[in-house]
Amino acid sequence: MPDNEQIRTHVADSYAKAVTRGTGCCCGDDATTRGVAAQWAGYSVGDTEGLPNDAVINSFGCGNPLAFSEVKEGQTVLDLGSGAGIDLLLAARKVGSSGQVIGIDMTDEMIAAANRNIAASGHRNVEVRKGLIEKLPVEDNSVDWVISNCVINLSPEKDRVFAEINRVLKPGGQMRVSDIVVDDLPDWVRTNEHLYNTCIAGAISEQDYLQGLRDAGLTDVRVAETLTYQPSQVKALFVSEVDGDCGCGCGCGSADAFDDPAVIDQAVQDLAGKVRSSIIVAKKG
Ligand SMILES: C[S@@+](CC[C@H](N)C(=O)[O-])C[C@H]1O[C@@H](n2cnc3c(N)ncnc32)[C@H](O)[C@@H]1O
Repeated sequence: MPDNEQIRTHVADSYAKAVTRGTGCCCGDDATTRGVAAQWAGYSVGDTEGLPNDAVINSFGCGNPLAFSEVKEGQTVLDLGSGAGIDLLLAARKVGSSGQVIGIDMTDEMIAAANRNIAASGHRNVEVRKGLIEKLPVEDNSVDWVISNCVINLSPEKDRVFAEINRVLKPGGQMRVSDIVVDDLPDWVRTNEHLYNTCIAGAISEQDYLQGLRDAGLTDVRVAETLTYQPSQVKALFVSEVDGDCGCGCGCGSADAFDDPAVIDQAVQDLAGKVRSSIIVAKKG
């Protein structure tokens, strides 16, 4: 097994490549199909209307966490693994000019893309800080909302992330996270180093996710919505990861040794009915 730093480096390299290629997920190079991933993740046309195209096509999420929030004007929203910034821009609309939106990401190329999209959208109260979600460059008790979209599954140290969420939320602050969860992930998938940078191999079960948040001190922890992936969706996610040719998933891998269709079919069969995208909510205090 690779160590935690190797996993993060691998993940950052994958997303740097994905955003540099500029095709996002599920999009190919065909402009007519761009933005499909964003809709697939649960954004309405109204959500994405008026956003910079680059933010939409470089959306790598698996849900729409803000759709489950009640963010109000003047509040502070923190987005863990903010990528090219789609949720930062949606949050900026909600908090208005008196609020604040902060994104955290470790990948320079993603931060550069987000900064371009923030500049294009004209928002002055949105910033991206370079850092790890396991060690947030954010003050204690300082944010009203923590959101995240398909990122925590990529962390090799989820307990640290959960503790950080509890640390930075104000008392009464809330969390809305969209993420991949997997029941009974086969060992051969979890331990395959080529797949650790995907949104599958690092995913944990919903039960472990909820318990991890509770152990970190968060309350009212529950699943607000869940979508079980169809075999074709698991395959699209898987193929996108192993080919580095983004399908309807949230990541881009490069597992050259893993391109045997029979192995992919086996993975899809082993994972049938086990892969879900869930909206997980929690509160501090
Ligand atoms: C699947 S993409 C999601 C991006 C964005 N949330 C979206 O919905 O489009 C994962 C993002 O999380 C970032 N990321 C992954 N692990 C991270 C970590 N441990 N610390 C900081 N950023 C991380 C990656 O650089 C990438 O931008």
